[in-house]
Amino acid sequence: MTLTPRTSTTLTQFLIEQRRRYPDASGNFNALILDVALACKAIAKSVAYGALADLLGNHPDEGGASVNVQGETQKKLDVLSNDLFIRMNEWGGHLAGMASEEMTHPYPIPSHLPKGKYLLVFDPLDGSSNIDVNVSVGSIFSVLRAPAHVQGGADLTETDFLQPGCQQVAAGYALYGPTTMLVLTVGTGVNGFTLDPVMGEFMLTHPDLQVPADTQEFAINASNARFWEAPVKRYVDECLAGRTGPRGKDFNMRWIASMVAEAHRILMRGGVFMYPRDTKDLGKAGRLRLLYEANPVGMIMEQAGGRASTGRAPMLTVQPQELHQRIALVFGSRNEVERIERYHAEPVSFRDETPLFAERSLFRD
Ligand code: F6P
Repeated sequence: MTLTPRTSTTLTQFLIEQRRRYPDASGNFNALILDVALACKAIAKSVAYGALADLLGNHPDEGGASVNVQGETQKKLDVLSNDLFIRMNEWGGHLAGMASEEMTHPYPIPSHLPKGKYLLVFDPLDGSSNIDVNVSVGSIFSVLRAPAHVQGGADLTETDFLQPGCQQVAAGYALYGPTTMLVLTVGTGVNGFTLDPVMGEFMLTHPDLQVPADTQEFAINASNARFWEAPVKRYVDECLAGRTGPRGKDFNMRWIASMVAEAHRILMRGGVFMYPRDTKDLGKAGRLRLLYEANPVGMIMEQAGGRASTGRAPMLTVQPQELHQRIALVFGSRNEVERIERYHAEPVSFRDETPLFAERSLFRD
């Protein structure tokens, strides 16, 4: 069988064409995105080698496995992916600093290297519990502008990263699945590129992605059901009730436990993802991280016509308080996310109106 390539536009060509719309642009931004893409290619290669290169399992540390600032055990590939992101992005002169899930503090560009006007925030390997079982994982990134005082030479601090998601200049993810894909928004829609592993190029294969406004598929870790708040219980109950319930249609459920993979599925065919606030650990305001998970995925969803929310407020309006802040995250098909927001806005009244919840709920208090 002869395979005909579907496209001949490379990521580089795509970025150059975008830049032509801004004649004053310096090219720094494009160079930064290409460095990020290079890091993702290097990570894709390491992920693909896996056990062949002794890259599975926990990252060893004195007396056991190393643990990141979140208290999560680090995998060898978490640490390697973080190093690759730093090495591929620190030298180019486009960045003033970086911040990562795997680093407690921001990483300023070392003094012997040129500095630039952007900040890069990333989760180098999301879903790393899936690494050892050979299920898709990904990298997520967000590009912010460095505040003026940093561009003017002031030392970089954590506060410089605390910008709401609506200020992101670009966001994207790489998905290391059956194919490696890079999905990118520079604020003009969302485009998907597939890595041609022989040419080593990301090719534009999925132009102008759009999330369908309606869906019959939801994603949530149901083992947390007893800790959910009432609006989330109500929403899931109604989905489970299917055709005979208030929604009048059957729903399907998927949970990969790699948020990047769930985001990609939702971009491809619609759906809704929820990692809501719950009462499992009252010290945590959610499971996912605002700056390098919720905000970049939020920008991608909104740029693709979907929606991202905390359940109570649009995600991209949230003012971050801390670098590693956790947050409740709901994203995907617009009409479903808006419905979940409505349920949060009317938390008490539905109990009387919805006999399903009171009498037949699978998730009764
Ligand atoms: O880093 C966060 C993450 O791995 C996401 O990719 C994923 O959606 C979630 O955690 C899985 O959480 P849980 O283990 O509770 O299912």
